[in-house]
Amino acid sequence: MIYSRIEGTGHHLPEKIMTNFDLEKLVDTSDEWIKTRTGVERRHIASIDEATSDLGLKAAKKAIIDAKVNKEDIDLIVVGTTTPDYIFPNVATLIQNGLGSHGCPAFSVEAACSGFVYALSVADKFIKSGGIKCALVVGAEVMTRIIDWEDRKTCVLFGDGAGAVVIKPSGEQGIIDCQLGADGKYKDLLWYPAGPSKDFQNIGNGNANLEMNGSEVFKVAVRTLGNVAEETLQANNIDKSELNWLVPHQANLRIIQATAKRLDLPMDKVILTVQDHGNTSSASIPMAFDVGIKDGRIKRNQLILMEAFGGGFTWGTVLMRY
Ligand code: ACO
Repeated sequence: MIYSRIEGTGHHLPEKIMTNFDLEKLVDTSDEWIKTRTGVERRHIASIDEATSDLGLKAAKKAIIDAKVNKEDIDLIVVGTTTPDYIFPNVATLIQNGLGSHGCPAFSVEAACSGFVYALSVADKFIKSGGIKCALVVGAEVMTRIIDWEDRKTCVLFGDGAGAVVIKPSGEQGIIDCQLGADGKYKDLLWYPAGPSKDFQNIGNGNANLEMNGSEVFKVAVRTLGNVAEETLQANNIDKSELNWLVPHQANLRIIQATAKRLDLPMDKVILTVQDHGNTSSASIPMAFDVGIKDGRIKRNQLILMEAFGGGFTWGTVLMRY
């Protein structure tokens, strides 16, 4: 049996940090409100000349060094993002060119906050089918470009960043299962209401912004994440107590706590970065994963569950031995 195994990880955050106290000067909010409702204390903000591919490239370079592979070894690049630099070329090709590597397939996957889990699942299938020997998977976002900085209901939640992993085939157990799902009937609860084939002038004039019905998103997210996490464990005959780490999408501390409770996991078995990064959409899981590995908490052969939920709605899990 061939498994995809994580060989290296990396993440990159823009230099500028915006705290909740900085936000108090922009909108009618407070550090106390933001911390209590979301767990966010600060977030990183990309500078005007930093695009998603710039953040993704820096994370990718770190993951490649960590994996001890050469850029020439990479034969697939998949990027999860919902804030691409351009409509085309896709972000994966921009990262490929930035790496100075040429020729391998490179494409992006658009699944909002579930983008990285979707991208990793796609790359895993390529590895398992035997065609690919070394894949780079990136989650990268500049969410702060698509939010309304006068809307306190959304602008306090998001941040920018990128995370990356390098995966290779192995006879040792690695990615055990990926479970993906989506339900388009929830489109209006969390969306960016313009795109290249619809209301394009809104983008051109910079008029559109992310829109969200926070309390409804919260309810569906908690229910769906709990269900899909339990289903993933059941499908693989794994008891909740066997899990070493939950690496969740860092949307909101209360959503994460609810999922951990459903899995009977104490919060010290959950990698949390939402306080420092905010919600970085597709970037949040690979960044949290890298943080947990680099600070020594996540160790080789431990059992990890990644879980994500995002606009669409989309959702997914990746169960793996690291
Ligand atoms: N500061 C102060 N007050 C605020 C703020 C703010 N930043 N934002 C909203 N409020 C006010 C509202 O105006 C409202 O006031 P009112 O009662 O006078 O009308 C009050 O706070 C309560 O508003 P709610 O929207 O009901 O607050 P809620 O407890 O639901 O918390 C939140 C809002 C944090 C957005 C919550 O709904 C949530 O976490 N939802 C999940 C959404 C999410 O995580 N989205 C991320 C993208 S999806 C994903 O990544 C999974």
